[in-house]
Amino acid sequence: MTPPLAPELVRATVHDPHAEARARFAAAVHAGLAKPHKRLPTEYLYDERGSALFDAICDLPEYYPTRTELAIMRAHVDAMAAALGPNATIIEYGSGSSIKTRLLLDALERPAAYVPVDISAEHLAAASARLAREYPELRIAPVAADFTRPFDVPVRGVGRRVVYFPGSTIGNFEPDAATALLRQMARLVGPGGSVLIGVDLRKSVDILEPAYDDAAGVTAEFNLNLLRRIARELGGDLDPSRFRHRAYFDAEHGRIVMTLVSRCTQLVHVAGRRYRFDEGEAVITEYSHKYTREGFAALAGAAGLRVAQVWTDPAEWFSVQHLVAG
Ligand SMILES: C[S@@+](CC[C@H](N)C(=O)[O-])C[C@H]1O[C@@H](n2cnc3c(N)ncnc32)[C@H](O)[C@@H]1O
Repeated sequence: MTPPLAPELVRATVHDPHAEARARFAAAVHAGLAKPHKRLPTEYLYDERGSALFDAICDLPEYYPTRTELAIMRAHVDAMAAALGPNATIIEYGSGSSIKTRLLLDALERPAAYVPVDISAEHLAAASARLAREYPELRIAPVAADFTRPFDVPVRGVGRRVVYFPGSTIGNFEPDAATALLRQMARLVGPGGSVLIGVDLRKSVDILEPAYDDAAGVTAEFNLNLLRRIARELGGDLDPSRFRHRAYFDAEHGRIVMTLVSRCTQLVHVAGRRYRFDEGEAVITEYSHKYTREGFAALAGAAGLRVAQVWTDPAEWFSVQHLVAG
């Protein structure tokens, strides 16, 4: 009779995706909190509740990006569809609720497939199921993944590839990381392939800051939800009520900085490690870079992408840009 396997060996060979995801989350949190200027990983703002709160933010009067981008899409979607051509496979990075996508899918000539990619797995599954009911003819292949890491596109050999990246999510990345992400998109679509991307533009601080610190406190709730998630999923004694939301415009770098500020001096345990927060110490949770048209063209150029067309609203608050891989 074969002797039973030692428990250690069994554990070592069992593939547990939840344990891996938790270990990645813990590692990212530890790496950020160990920095001299503490940071938390932006992509973890989006669990099921975070995604629902983001949808609520999109409806706020102060949050101009969503309604402005939607207005640009409504006004110019036919020109966008013509530029992207027929039979396209649309790969959407950070698809969320896929609201803007519907405008694009309606305008495109015979789209071949739609591949929404999002880190918020439950939200992605629900959004994809809704979309599948509305577009029964369309092949929809959702991918729950971190788009900054290599992922498989489950649709091969159908149509030319187009990356769609709305929502100004590119603004969450610092310039080097943004260039790396754009370069990865250029590789994914291949020479002559397209990227359709939403890019938020520079504007008055009086418009920018309230968009990230609304009167109803929904953005504050979205931000603090990250601490709730850390406490729930990683364990420890992190108490979200001991932090407050603060967002401000950093003129030197042309970006909104979203932070959580410690209300007191405190020692906090997270996933078995201890961190000290001084009273008033800020932890950065998100950047949102605001570009000039020239600044973004330079960033795209460094990634091997040429700006072919730019559509904006009359006030030039936001842009949707068509980039072509060289
Ligand atoms: C600002 S929201 C934009 C949502 C939607 N595209 C829109 O335009 O309204 C960012 C979306 O990207 C997703 N996301 C953020 N970082 C991600 C990452 N590293 N990998 C995959 N998805 C990510 C979030 O879950 C969220 O749905």
